[in-house]
Amino acid sequence: MKPTTAPRTYRVKSFGCQMNVYDGERMAEMLATRGIKPAPEGEEADLVVLNTCHIREKAAEKVYSDIGRLQKADGTKPLIAVAGCVAQAEGEEIMARAPAVSMVVGPQAYHRLPEMLDKAVQGERATDTDMPAIAKFAALPERRKIGPAAFLTVQEGCDKFCTYCVVPYTRGAEISRPYSDLVTEARKLVEAGAREITLLGQNVSAWSGENDRGHRVGLAGLIRDLADLDGLARIRYTTSHPADMDDELIAAHGEIDKLMPFLHLPVQAGSDRVLRAMNRSHTAESYLKLLDRFRAARPDLALSGDFIVGFPGETDAEFEETLRLVDEVGYAQAFSFKYSPRPGTPAASMDGQIAKEVMDERLQRLQAALNRDQLAFNQGTVGRTCEVLVERKGKHPGQWLGKTPWLQSAWFDGDYAIGDLVEVELLEAGPNSLRASVRESALSLA
Ligand code: 5AD
Ligand code: SF4
Repeated sequence: MKPTTAPRTYRVKSFGCQMNVYDGERMAEMLATRGIKPAPEGEEADLVVLNTCHIREKAAEKVYSDIGRLQKADGTKPLIAVAGCVAQAEGEEIMARAPAVSMVVGPQAYHRLPEMLDKAVQGERATDTDMPAIAKFAALPERRKIGPAAFLTVQEGCDKFCTYCVVPYTRGAEISRPYSDLVTEARKLVEAGAREITLLGQNVSAWSGENDRGHRVGLAGLIRDLADLDGLARIRYTTSHPADMDDELIAAHGEIDKLMPFLHLPVQAGSDRVLRAMNRSHTAESYLKLLDRFRAARPDLALSGDFIVGFPGETDAEFEETLRLVDEVGYAQAFSFKYSPRPGTPAASMDGQIAKEVMDERLQRLQAALNRDQLAFNQGTVGRTCEVLVERKGKHPGQWLGKTPWLQSAWFDGDYAIGDLVEVELLEAGPNSLRASVRESALSLA
């Protein structure tokens, strides 16, 4: 590659999960400490980071087409870095197939992006897909100004090896970030304006660490201590695995006011045979019993889940079991996907791969049921009074949008600022948002 001038502007495009959003923010912070500025809206940057997702579909093909499209106003290509899970899984191939790419950096190595950038400016291409895990966090710059709702990665990687999933290969083995690093980062986030923090991990409930009193604690212990931070109003966590939910975490939902009444707990399927083939280590019944315990601790808990339709060998009758489970739970929201064979995972070579049309039809039926339940949940909250965290301006002047404790979007009129916690009454429910009216303004940071 030819040497080039140092980039003045950057854009980080993150795809996929919230952890990628977090990683994208941290890469942006690193570039900002180098004096590189975010590219103005509508203008292509000198440096583009494609922060990719490998969990489903033809992720790599999408990356190649994105690379093909990138072009600056003067017709030249920007410097391109491919980051995230596609970089981890297919780094060498990307380098071979896409000469426009000068950097490939995996999710555990992106703290080295600035050094790679120096090389790229000199015309050298570089790939870094090492997995040093914790080292990354220590090497990142401090958190800068962020919005009122922030993400904080507490745990990365997964040891569960669900047979359909690529995460254990792209994100590596489970690691927990140390307690003190997390408390420090949370404090910095609050100082930078965060009022809500969502603790992130591929298997967040597996987090464990040693607290400042020298005691071994799990996620509940961490949440309890973070709840003591002044200025922090709300805590959430995602994503959990049913096998790692302990009594303390369940109890925390009933005891810690700042822990929001929302639980994202993927079940994936309703048939025990399918769950076994997925290597999920829970049954439909054990999952439902677990939810009962959470609901006993926090009766107004909103539930969310993930579903896969068309796992290899799934029969019509087995799919019906998923629908029955959905009926029984009454999810407030959920994500549902068609099974997508991931290269290198056990399920990709299982017999009984399901035809696309069958998957389409099952997904449609499942989503109809989930949409029905989401609307019903929203309608069930009409008349409630709750706090909304103002996250952005609405479409019309004087209109604001924020999230209820149950993670619903609510909009209302008034004279507020982003980051305010506003007490509202929920008046009218749609499938994706609620109209609210203001009761009284709480604490304003404006
Ligand atoms: N095909 C379809 N969906 C998948 N997920 C993970 N791997 C696959 C796959 N191969 C879904 C699961 C998981 C969510 C993040 O993505 O439902 O919980
Ligand atoms: Fe993938 Fe989640 Fe299963 Fe881990 S627990 S392998 S991240 S689906």
